[in-house]
Parts: sequence; C-alpha cells; structure tokens
Amino acid sequence: MRIYIFLCLICWARFGYLDFSSKINGVSKNPENNRTCLEFSKLNAMNSLKDLFYPKVKIELLMYSRNNVNCAEPLFESNNSLNTHFNSSKKTVWIIHGYRPLGSTPVWLRKFTTTFLKEEDVNLIVVDWNQGASTFIYSRAVRNTRRVAESLRGTIEHLLIHGASLDNFHFIGMSLGAHISGFVGKIFHGQLGRITGLDPAGPKFSGKPSNSRLDYTDAKFVDVIHSDSRGLGIQEPSGHIDFYPNGGKKQPGCPTSLFSGMNYFKCDHQRAVYLFLAAFETNCNFVSFPCRSYNDYKNGLCMDCGELYKDSCPRLGNQAKLWKEELKKKTDEWPLRTIAFLDTSGQNPFCTYYFALSIVTLSETMRNGTISFSLLNDLGVLEYPRLYEKSQSFAYLQEVKILAQFVNDIVNISHICMTYFPSTNPYCSTCKYRIQSLMLKSLTHPERPPICKYNFVLKERVQIEFQPDACNTQMG
Ligand SMILES: *[C@@H]1O[C@H](CO)[C@@H](O)[C@H](O)[C@H]1NC(C)=O
Ligand SMILES: *[C@@H]1O[C@H](CO)[C@@H](O)[C@H](O)[C@H]1NC(C)=O
Ligand SMILES: *[C@@H]1O[C@H](CO)[C@@H](O)[C@H](O)[C@H]1NC(C)=O
Ligand SMILES: *[C@@H]1O[C@H](CO)[C@@H](O)[C@H](O)[C@H]1NC(C)=O
Repeated sequence: MRIYIFLCLICWARFGYLDFSSKINGVSKNPENNRTCLEFSKLNAMNSLKDLFYPKVKIELLMYSRNNVNCAEPLFESNNSLNTHFNSSKKTVWIIHGYRPLGSTPVWLRKFTTTFLKEEDVNLIVVDWNQGASTFIYSRAVRNTRRVAESLRGTIEHLLIHGASLDNFHFIGMSLGAHISGFVGKIFHGQLGRITGLDPAGPKFSGKPSNSRLDYTDAKFVDVIHSDSRGLGIQEPSGHIDFYPNGGKKQPGCPTSLFSGMNYFKCDHQRAVYLFLAAFETNCNFVSFPCRSYNDYKNGLCMDCGELYKDSCPRLGNQAKLWKEELKKKTDEWPLRTIAFLDTSGQNPFCTYYFALSIVTLSETMRNGTISFSLLNDLGVLEYPRLYEKSQSFAYLQEVKILAQFVNDIVNISHICMTYFPSTNPYCSTCKYRIQSLMLKSLTHPERPPICKYNFVLKERVQIEFQPDACNTQMG
C-alpha cells in the first residue's frame, strides 16, 4: 500500500509541489594524476518519465580505494586493463543501491564510501545502475535486478582472472540492491565471502521462494538488517543472521505522518543504512539478542545469548562477521536461522547501552511487581534507563532478570537507586523483603566486570540508594 502512495507522491513531486533539490557538482579531478573523477549518474524525474517509453539499463562501476577516496575511477581502463589502484589481494566491497524513482544520487552514498575506506583498507566498487533503477514503474526496476546481476558476471570473472577471489568479496546491497547481491551470489553458487542486506526490498519479493530473492545460501555469510519490514522492506528472515532493530517495523525518530513529505516513506527504510554506518563510525557496540520474537526480547527472555556466543551477543554492522562461524554452524547443522533484536535511539549515532539487572530474593512473601532503578555515575549524573514494564514474579531463591537500556554509557557506577512496586494493592508500608543478591552487568560491554550488592532489604515503594560492591567470584 505504502509503495503506491509513494509513487503518487513522486508524480506529485514531478509537477513541482515538493522540492527535491539535487546537488550540482562541477567536474572534479584527482589532483594526483589529473584524471577526471567519475560521478554517479545524475538523473532526474524526466529520465524516469522517459523510461516509461524507452526502458534502458546501464551499469557504471565506480572504483574507490584509499588512494582515491574522493575521486572515483573506472574499474577497468578504456584499454581494458585493471585500474592500478585495485589490489587483488585486498578485500573488495561492492555497494549496490536500490530503487531510485527520481533518479537522484543516494544521499548516504558519499558517506558510505568515505566511512568504509576510513575504517578498512579495501577496494570499493559502487555499482551505479541508476539507469535501470530510475523508473516510475517499480516492477520494471525489480525485473532489472536480475539483469544487473547478470551483467556483473563478466566483470567479476575478469577480476578473478586478475587474482581477486570470491571469498574476498563483500556485497552490500540496499533494498533492491540486496536482491541484486543475492542474484550475483546465485550466479557464483554461494561462493561470495559475504552479503549484507540493508533492508532488502519487500514488495515483489515477500513470500517468494529463495531462488527469487536474497537468501543465506547466496554467500558464505549473509547478514541482514530489517528496518521497514511492514513497508518497503521484507519481513521474512533471509540471512544467517537477521537483525530487527526496534522490532524491524518502525524506527524511532522517523516521522509518523504524511505531512513530513518524502521522509515519511524513506526514513524507516534508510535507517538500515545509517545503522550500519553508525556501527562503523562509533565505538558503540550494537549488541543484539537472538530471540524468537520482539516480545520475548522485551520481556527479558533472551538476555544471555546462550552457549553459542562465548563472549558477547552478536553485533549489528560490519562486526557481525565476528560471529560468522557460530552462526553458520547453526544454519548448516540444524538448520536454524538466527533472528536477533535490539533497540536503538532515534538519533544518530543511535546507540543505546544495555545492562542486565538480576535479583535473587530470600523472601517468601515478596509479591509480583516491578523494579525500577537508576544509576549514578562518578560525576554525580543520574541516568535513567528505558525499562520494559512487565510485572516480575519474585519467588524464594529465584533469579529475576531485567533488561535495561541507557542513552548514555555509565562506566563507573557510584550508586544504584532502586524502588520496588508490587503490582497488586493494597500496599504494605511495613513489609520488608530480604534480597540475597543483585548483580548489574553491561551487555554492551560484556568485558567489564559486573557489580553486585548482597544481603539488603527492599520496602514497597521506597527508594533505596546504595553503593555497589565487587561481585563474589562464583556469582560474577
Ligand atoms: C592502459 O591505460 C592505463 C591508463 O590509461 C595505462 O596506465 C596502462 O599502462 C594502459 N595499459 C596498456 C596495456 O596499454
Ligand atoms: C596489495 O595489498 C597487500 C595486502 O594488503 C599488500 O601487502 C601489497 O603491498 C599491496 N600491493 C600494492 C601494489 O599496493
Ligand atoms: C505472579 O506471576 C506469575 C508468573 O507471571 C503468575 O503465574 C502468578 O499467578 C502471579 N501471582 C500473582 C499472585 O499474581
Ligand atoms: C572510571 O574510573 C577509572 C578509575 O577511577 C578512571 O581511570 C576512568 O577514567 C573512569 N572512566 C570514566 C568514563 O569515567
């Protein structure tokens, strides 16, 4: 449904009701060798209109490396020799964009290439299929995805002859680009090193068999981020691991009304790209929690990631590859896909910091209820978490675990403030409940030692404040 409104809006825009200003760049040159830099194809709504009558697919490959971060060069020279900046022994990252109904350059593209090259020394190739993605007819762009993949076959074979290896290829596809990556993977029988799908397109792909869309069999490792699975993105899991930030449907900070213009349609969908970039740029760990459902995750049922992940839960972003072996084992042996949940904040860099609070009571009369708490850091700033309101059942010697997220990290915790609220009336102002132990652990930074408090008393609706201690070793 949203896709159709989206298209209407585009037509509307075409006639000047909305302003889609596009940047106008002059021709730039690489000062090092005075070569003219290649540019992403500049198209506009006129081209999309023209495509109605004269459909056309054209692919340009823009090659970047640390030697030409700001100036794309052709991958192959006009005499067919490989660009000298391409180093076959390095990893090669392919970036493939999605549907471009108005032909504009993806706003995130520039940032993506520079961020990637800053963090990793790779050959980076932008697959510009703008001519083919710019059409008012979405299903035509969908049909073109296979043709784009097919036309990359020759280029890739050529690179292999020059000593590159499929294993060293990492395809990163946004929306339709994710499925193009999948089709390339199918052509090479799943031998690509990695495919990252950034909110793979949903319309025309949802519910299709695995040979008609991105699938985990397309590469040795496939990781997918779903950020708009009810709109432009696909709902069903398709990788070795599928991340569903904020449940995967709606993203915090995105407009909720149509009056915000185009951003209403694109914001959730594009968030996958920005999360991937934020995970790269910041030292925030986007830890995720493999879980059956978002609800189970919110109810704190998936806080420890189980035996499978020794040190930490899998992290969204480029780092996801660190969990490749464990995840592959799971898909190969059982076969079980991993779907993982996490929450983010609504603003760049989208970080949240997870803590797990666990409590064991010695009381036999403590009633079901909730625990709220806040943390005081060593600078005297009190940080309040986001807690999922859920009544816990406190029973003698039974551990209760609570998942908490903070907008800011708290490294040195000087005090914990805590209140217990029973969920049923009447409340008892004289009741006391003895707590055997409390443990607070950072899940975002599992390498930090947890902190504990032993043997204290909670009263109903009375805030207590205490300094935590180091944990006894058998607990921590
Ligand atoms: C092909 O062209 C490139 C750049 O124009 C040049 O550096 C290279 O030497 C040429 N190779 C051959 C085999 O002519
Ligand atoms: C290509 O990359 C490898 C590995 O990073 C490096 O050892 C080698 O020096 C590079 N070759 C050139 C010509 O830069
Ligand atoms: C407390 O919670 C548990 C599990 O949620 C539930 O089975 C039990 O009935 C609750 N007890 C009361 C007194 O509400
Ligand atoms: C935490 O405390 C340690 C030791 O007192 C100190 O070196 C460190 O800078 C503190 N970290 C932060 C983020 O406050």
